[in-house]
Amino acid sequence: MLTWSDNWIIGHDEIDAGHKRFFDLVDAMETALVAGEERSTVQAIAVALAIDTAAHFSAEERLLAAHGYPGAEEHRARHQEILRTVDAALIRCDDADEEEVWLAACKEVKTVLLNHLVHDDMAYRQFLVEQGIVGVSEES
Ligand SMILES: [Fe+2]
Ligand SMILES: [Fe+2]
Repeated sequence: MLTWSDNWIIGHDEIDAGHKRFFDLVDAMETALVAGEERSTVQAIAVALAIDTAAHFSAEERLLAAHGYPGAEEHRARHQEILRTVDAALIRCDDADEEEVWLAACKEVKTVLLNHLVHDDMAYRQFLVEQGIVGVSEES
């Protein structure tokens, strides 16, 4: 499974902190699953992930709009779609009687978010680098 590494750094502190938290929570979820923790424990992490993600998405949308990213509107729409998918998965988690159904729903939460980071977020990083908005830091 993917873990946090410098490969995922965008070069923007707030966004990177959000992504790092995402990996931390996914890690915590994996650890809880492997340890055979109660469903409620795993689900609490999944819910925390969803709440964090919603805040992170808003920050990202503001950043992309502020810098005139050509795909900003599409990215925002993708966020909305992902939040709906995550909500639906959390409901299935809550409702699941069978272990496999429950596990699949929990895993969907992290998979959909991970795929977004790897594909869609890395696409806007390229734009921000090309525009000189991130990448070369000019620390005083
Ligand atoms: Fe992101
Ligand atoms: Fe995003």
